[in-house]
Amino acid sequence: MTDGTTRGTTSGSAGGTGGAERDSAPGGWRGWRAATEAALYGPGGFYRRPEGPAGHFRTSVHASPLFAAAVARLLCRVDEALGRPSALDFVDMAAGRGELVTGVLAALPDEVAARARGYAVEVADRPAGLDERITWLSAPPAGITGLLFANEWLDDVPLEVAEVDHAGVARLVLVRQDGIERLGEPVAGAEAAWLARWWPLPPEEGLRAEIGLPRDTAWASAVGCVERGLAVAVDYAHTARARPPFGTLTGFREGRETAPVPDGSCDITAHVALDACAARGACTARDTEEARDRGEARDTEEAPDAGEARDAGEARDGDTAPGACGALPDALLLSQRDALRALGLAGARPPLALAATDPQAYLSALASAGEAAELTAVGGLGDFGWLLQPVGIPHPLAPDSTRA
Ligand SMILES: C[S@@+](CC[C@H](N)C(=O)[O-])C[C@H]1O[C@@H](n2cnc3c(N)ncnc32)[C@H](O)[C@@H]1O
Repeated sequence: MTDGTTRGTTSGSAGGTGGAERDSAPGGWRGWRAATEAALYGPGGFYRRPEGPAGHFRTSVHASPLFAAAVARLLCRVDEALGRPSALDFVDMAAGRGELVTGVLAALPDEVAARARGYAVEVADRPAGLDERITWLSAPPAGITGLLFANEWLDDVPLEVAEVDHAGVARLVLVRQDGIERLGEPVAGAEAAWLARWWPLPPEEGLRAEIGLPRDTAWASAVGCVERGLAVAVDYAHTARARPPFGTLTGFREGRETAPVPDGSCDITAHVALDACAARGACTARDTEEARDRGEARDTEEAPDAGEARDAGEARDGDTAPGACGALPDALLLSQRDALRALGLAGARPPLALAATDPQAYLSALASAGEAAELTAVGGLGDFGWLLQPVGIPHPLAPDSTRA
């Protein structure tokens, strides 16, 4: 781990004029989606390097084992809601080097651990020395009964960036491998519909938006792999109440925020419109439940243009909300602070008197309190969004099911 840097601050725009095709036009101009895909996941891409994400920044998983312990408690709640199945799945989606699934399996009570099956889903290769009980996959398994947990995945799903030109028209931003940008064709089709629904851009030159359609599709596809249980996405997030006017696209390298240059030298990330993901996920969960009610296996393939028709639902912060998909289980959006507290992460300072009676216990409790404070910090990891999407079970963190 390089240092204590988490990702997530905003960056400005390089701007520009002109028009070009989004996928590798002459001069190497590409849309941000294609450029990021190649830079992060292509041959020699940033996420295929041996050092892994922890070599460049710190996620909640790296910050403290308390995070994995809280996720293990969530898995236990899902287990109860499922009626303690003989095989209970835990899928670490976008697993990095498998740190979360390793920590969750270690934190489970013996009786649950004996029934648990751990999966790590990652673009990168399986790291040497990983617990052999963990199955390493390049895509989530179908028919999950349990918990799929995606920590800081969706912010790394490549997307297009739009910017308003001098005439008030939203255009795709094109970028060269050295990070220089210019504007391309006007945003059209499903991408324009997504912007209109989720991130309307006023006609003011220089305003920017990140078109979250590929993330909605990726999230819906992951939710579609859950047969019964819960899917959770945790990320830097914003909702329609407060979109960042100039977007959030930025880079990270060796512990520092840097310009987003799509040459494979740095991470390229943008905050996630989790409300849009929630709406799509709810539709997929409904499809799964309806198929089960009919006694069918659900087709987990998403239609490529399904987004346009489905992007009409909405989820509110800290609340369940009706989506376009009717009354079936809707997404719950919480801050990480609230989610971890609901999972019993206390983080209170130990009483000073303990220092006199049991100095070792005092120091250990103090260290834990510090780690809990980092995971729940205002202006830091505590502000992350948790999107919880149940499939065929009640909300494990809804107010009526929340335990101390
Ligand atoms: C920011 S890191 C987060 C790693 C880990 N979840 C954590 O919290 O420490 C994002 C990870 O997502 C992986 N990733 C991105 N897209 C993926 C996909 N479609 N399938 C599997 N892994 C993916 C990347 O390779 C990278 O390891």
